[in-house]
Amino acid sequence: MIAIDGPAASGKGTIAQSVAAALGYRYLDSGALYRLVALEATRQKVATDDEPRLAALADGLDLSFGDGRIFVSGQDVTDAIRAEGVSAMASKVAILPRVRTALLTRQHAFRAPPGLVAEGRDMGTVVFPDARLKIYLTATAEARASRRYKQLIDKGNSITIQGLLRDIRERDERDSVRAAAPLRIAADAIVLDTTDMIADAAIACVLQQYQALTAAGAAGPA
Ligand code: DC
Repeated sequence: MIAIDGPAASGKGTIAQSVAAALGYRYLDSGALYRLVALEATRQKVATDDEPRLAALADGLDLSFGDGRIFVSGQDVTDAIRAEGVSAMASKVAILPRVRTALLTRQHAFRAPPGLVAEGRDMGTVVFPDARLKIYLTATAEARASRRYKQLIDKGNSITIQGLLRDIRERDERDSVRAAAPLRIAADAIVLDTTDMIADAAIACVLQQYQALTAAGAAGPA
């Protein structure tokens, strides 16, 4: 079990997916679950502070995954959940403890042999506190805004880098100050600053740390 946490656009998705592929492990994008609740809430016109309805919605989501795509009630929402409006809404619904509790069982269900790489904000602190390896990825807000800008422009979105930087700072603030499972570095996490690092270097670094741990585990007492 590898837990990878960090702020928005710190490279968690790319790095976690590549590490999972290299090890033949399953992959959990926990942020997608909050995005799915946000998307459904928008569609069903549920207010961001209506905790009971949002929690019920999180409980009742009919989700399926396949070939890197995500489906709600059979409809492909992979691209829809990446829209900036959904990102902002996701960080609002993620504040609510009952929504987080409703999503906990779904996250635990991903844990299965041969292993899991899970990424998000509270993987190492709350959801999988016993993870074998915990990585906290970080990068400056400017570097993260510039990465997100390139991704969104490539997909044909019209946005400005200044607007993205402001959004990222607002989300960082909401994700870190909330009472329920705030974004923080687990005491036993390894911090990796990717500001000046290409993705391949960060992936190699995580794999190296994991191999070192596995080798030490194999050599140590039973
Ligand atoms: O990682 P992401 O940008 O897709 O996450 C979307 C939002 O979901 C983010 O603003 C915070 C929230 N989130 C969370 O609270 N806990 C997680 N484990 C993952 C995401």
